[in-house]
Amino acid sequence: MASLRESAALSVATAEPLLRVSDVRKTYKGPHGERTEALANVSLTVASGELVALVGPSGCGKTTLLAIIAGLEEPDSGEVALRGDPGARRLGQVSYMPQRDLLLPWRDALGNAIAGLQVQGVPRAEAERRARGLFAAFGLSGFERAFAPTLSGGMRQRVAFARTALVTRDLMLLDEPFGALDALTRAELRRWLAEIWGKLGATCLLVTHDVDEALLLADRIYALTPRPGRVALERTVPLSGPRDLADLARPEMAALKAELLAALEGEPAIPPHTPAIQGREAEQGGAR
Ligand SMILES: Nc1ncnc2c1ncn2[C@@H]1O[C@H](COP(=O)(O)OP(=O)(O)O)[C@@H](O)[C@H]1O
Ligand SMILES: [Mg+2]
Repeated sequence: MASLRESAALSVATAEPLLRVSDVRKTYKGPHGERTEALANVSLTVASGELVALVGPSGCGKTTLLAIIAGLEEPDSGEVALRGDPGARRLGQVSYMPQRDLLLPWRDALGNAIAGLQVQGVPRAEAERRARGLFAAFGLSGFERAFAPTLSGGMRQRVAFARTALVTRDLMLLDEPFGALDALTRAELRRWLAEIWGKLGATCLLVTHDVDEALLLADRIYALTPRPGRVALERTVPLSGPRDLADLARPEMAALKAELLAALEGEPAIPPHTPAIQGREAEQGGAR
């Protein structure tokens, strides 16, 4: 027994996740001394190759957390470690796709896709060669020379995604990548991302306010409470591989959705047939 437990402890100790966020807090201070507590001790992990979704209502600190993970902002307290190293440089190792696509209007699709590589010093011809390699899989063939303002919303987002994928070394952070799109385009892009994901072999933390999106795409989901954000729930999605909307009607997925929705509202996750008081106790025990 003891040796089993020892070896389990050893494997936990050696298998450091790619990303570990521990007790991160962040409060913004305004010009007149007003304070906005954005994040209240958030902890999470992302293992290599995993697609983890972080769901939370608008304003709960999701973008703040991604900016901290990307190394663009510093937390007030807490730690962000890459492969177990809290001192690891994150800027440049972790790629971040912002909420808006931020394409350069004077560049064509290919020119936008290579922008990140060029910032890293990759020569234009080599950058274009790598980008062209992605364009077919991204459904962008034939649009290499189309200028950004002439592209549809879905295409713009795929160009932005290609730009991020091309510079990703360790971890890709996606901030509500489908948020600004109409419902049809969003559904189409989600399907596309679910399919392409296996081929990219990347590790990703996807932020969304949409529970269905998390259930369709993620291996594992964290739910954040309204501001200040804190982790209310962490669950592994019971279905693996690409899923479609019909899968969300399966009982185990519907139950998980109900649990996530309750957590997002800051309510304890109460199983439907459990008396409230027991549910609350179970929640408190399970939260630790
Ligand atoms: N630079 C900033 N200065 C002051 N307050 C900010 C700043 N960035 C975000 N906030 C505030 O912090 C909270 C969390 O913001 P954000 O991380 O953008 O949330 P989300 O991405 O979940 O919508 C919000 O109340 C927002 O107004
Ligand atoms: Mg945001």
